[in-house]
Amino acid sequence: MKKLLTLMCLAVGALSLAAPLQAQETKMLIAYFSWSGNTKSIAEQIHQKVGGDLVEIEPVRPYSRDYNTCLDEARQDQVNQARPELKTSIDNMARYDVIFLGYPNWWATIPMPVATFLEQYDFRGKTIVPFASHGGGRLGQSVTDIAKLSPQSTILEALSVSYGGGSSLSSDIDDWLDKNGLKK
Ligand SMILES: Cc1cc2nc3c(=O)[nH]c(=O)nc-3n(C[C@H](O)[C@H](O)[C@H](O)COP(=O)(O)O)c2cc1C
Repeated sequence: MKKLLTLMCLAVGALSLAAPLQAQETKMLIAYFSWSGNTKSIAEQIHQKVGGDLVEIEPVRPYSRDYNTCLDEARQDQVNQARPELKTSIDNMARYDVIFLGYPNWWATIPMPVATFLEQYDFRGKTIVPFASHGGGRLGQSVTDIAKLSPQSTILEALSVSYGGGSSLSSDIDDWLDKNGLKK
């Protein structure tokens, strides 16, 4: 009997330890690439609303700060299907179930550092929630390209934001989170 009670106590103890660990494991990651700051501020707003961890996807070799030079560099990277090396590293991707992935529309798709990011980690079984800032081309073919690079993930409806989003950004994010069932 004493042995049984001890076993029961151990089991209850193990369960109460497991609960907070599980809660930690459902953390969200908000990862974004941004060149002129629009995607960064959208990512920060999403982070304020959903919590989790916020990380910038940064290439080792930054793109030129000159707009026209950056256009050329980005185009070249896309034509070559380059995979620019990243400064960013995620400690333990396994603990994230939901990854918000933000980027500017570059030449109608994702900037190539985002492709590096998608290839560098294992997104199998994870949920990816794309959001993009654009200058008129909305999502372009970015979501199709994300799906090609992470075929075994679930990809939820993407948010497209014109430049910085303007005064309706906060409510647009709320509506989008709602639609995707991600409201806190
Ligand atoms: C290299 C480059 C390529 C771009 N290509 C497109 C495009 O194809 N379609 C579009 O709508 N906007 C395009 N834009 C505009 C950006 O998507 C837009 O300015 C966005 O808000 C930038 O986000 P960021 O501030 O996070 O970098 C391009 C911008 C750059 C720098």
